[in-house]
Amino acid sequence: MPDFDTLLENWEGESLVARRDEVGRAWIFIAIHSSRLGPAAGGTRMKSYPGPTAALHDALRLSEGMTYKFAAPNLPFGGAKAVIAVPSDLDPADRPGLLRRYGELVTQLGGRFLTGPDVGTTPEDMDIISETASSFVFCRTPGAGGAGDPGPFTALGVLAGIEAACEHVFGSPELADRRLVVQGVGDVGGALLDLLEAKGADVVFTEIDADLISRYRDERGFAFVAPEEVFAVEGDVFVPCALGGVLNAETIDRLRCRIVAGSANNQLAEPSDAERLRAAGVLYAPDFVINVGGAMAMPAMETMGWTADHAREQVRNYVRKTLLAIFNEAERFGSSTAAAAVAMAEHNLAAAGDDRR
Ligand code: PHE
Repeated sequence: MPDFDTLLENWEGESLVARRDEVGRAWIFIAIHSSRLGPAAGGTRMKSYPGPTAALHDALRLSEGMTYKFAAPNLPFGGAKAVIAVPSDLDPADRPGLLRRYGELVTQLGGRFLTGPDVGTTPEDMDIISETASSFVFCRTPGAGGAGDPGPFTALGVLAGIEAACEHVFGSPELADRRLVVQGVGDVGGALLDLLEAKGADVVFTEIDADLISRYRDERGFAFVAPEEVFAVEGDVFVPCALGGVLNAETIDRLRCRIVAGSANNQLAEPSDAERLRAAGVLYAPDFVINVGGAMAMPAMETMGWTADHAREQVRNYVRKTLLAIFNEAERFGSSTAAAAVAMAEHNLAAAGDDRR
């Protein structure tokens, strides 16, 4: 874990808001990485961390990923992320108040930061946040006037990305009889299992939450492996849909899949892991391209009048087309796919001008 000085020195973002919430015993960090393409948007992640520095590290890295996520398709948003670092024994009764106080902080930013759900938050939480941050919140429940759960839209894009990667590597996007190894069956991974099942894929999954394990293994009959074994499962596609940083020297060495294509943000532990994957002959679908579904669909449905059908079509087409272009570019220039994706995003940011504000 980098120390506080190193974290701030290496972050190229615009502003960082830190708020200590005494009642909820929480730290809130809102990292606004870039507003060059529009108001900075990003999810609100709520979980416990070993300490505030770890939470800050997550917020800063995730905010940069959001800048690239919106910039690659040239969507009119900048990148940001909020982390609410809560104690592991947070009393559920203290949660709504904490979310409302967080909403007040979002309102103080006056529209420079827009948010939606992420790990640890739901559309129901967005309803609560919007009590104090009304128009700055995406993905409220449909009953409260929002577009609801982004997970299925993200999952749809991930499916399109997996198919594109298979097309590139195996010459066919068909998933029947391909073996997919899914790490994490939360909001996105769970929705993805349904889609993969419908495609006739051979799915193996891992998960740490007991309720989710029982739902997908015992009730639905999916094959389960223990979390520590997931990297070594023999298969075609490794699909990381849990937390970030899972691809590092050690795990890449154990991978027995030709493709990595999943929804988690910040899958690479460090940038050089992109080269490591390339050297190992593994095709990596850059996270911020393949997982854009929710971030592309929900704001557009809520503010630009897209229908759900139109959003699904846009997400599928964008992910497929963009990944195929990135895979070809990377091959042509002998670079990693991650470098090709960042170059595409940087190109759009540069075209928008030098003034970040
Ligand atoms: N969790 C989403 C992501 O990482 C965040 C998001 C959802 C942002 C919906 C905006 C709208 O992309």
